[in-house]
Amino acid sequence: MSIEAEVQTPNTPYYRLGGAPVFEAICDRFYDLMDEDPRYAELRAMHAPDLTPIRKALPQFLAGWAGGPRDWFEAIPGRCMMSVHKSLTIDQTVAVQWAEAMKRAVADVAPEPADMAQAMGEVLADLARGMGKA
Ligand code: HEM
Repeated sequence: MSIEAEVQTPNTPYYRLGGAPVFEAICDRFYDLMDEDPRYAELRAMHAPDLTPIRKALPQFLAGWAGGPRDWFEAIPGRCMMSVHKSLTIDQTVAVQWAEAMKRAVADVAPEPADMAQAMGEVLADLARGMGKA
């Protein structure tokens, strides 16, 4: 890659994993699994009937989180993971469901490089499990 191209495309997980199309595919797969697989029923029941808004929000959040465009964070300054979930009671059951569905979604979309994709899936799963109250 030329120096100019590197400056235009930062060497972050977001760009290395393929950017917006890949993050959108992971999140679509994640919400398809949540919507269709009964093993995520409790997690699904916590969400709004219409998943369209969160299908757009999660890839935008993950973009900023993984070193890509920060539109989600800039749209409402001060908004963060804690603030968007503060009204929710997240127990271990739903936290583990989130973690498992996300690991599956990443594995199903199978972005390259595979080791980086797997590491991202694990970190997101840890994050979700850490949000679950014992
Ligand atoms: C630990 C289990 C989790 C549960 C039970 C949970 C549940 C929810 C629920 C119910 C909503 C509201 C959306 C709706 O009503 O349809 C939401 C929003 C959201 N969650 Fe989670 N969540 C979890 C973990 C995570 C994790 C780990 C992330 C990010 C890595 C995340 C990112 C988001 C984002 C970006 C929104 C949308 C905020 C917005 O733009 O309005 N969540 N979550």
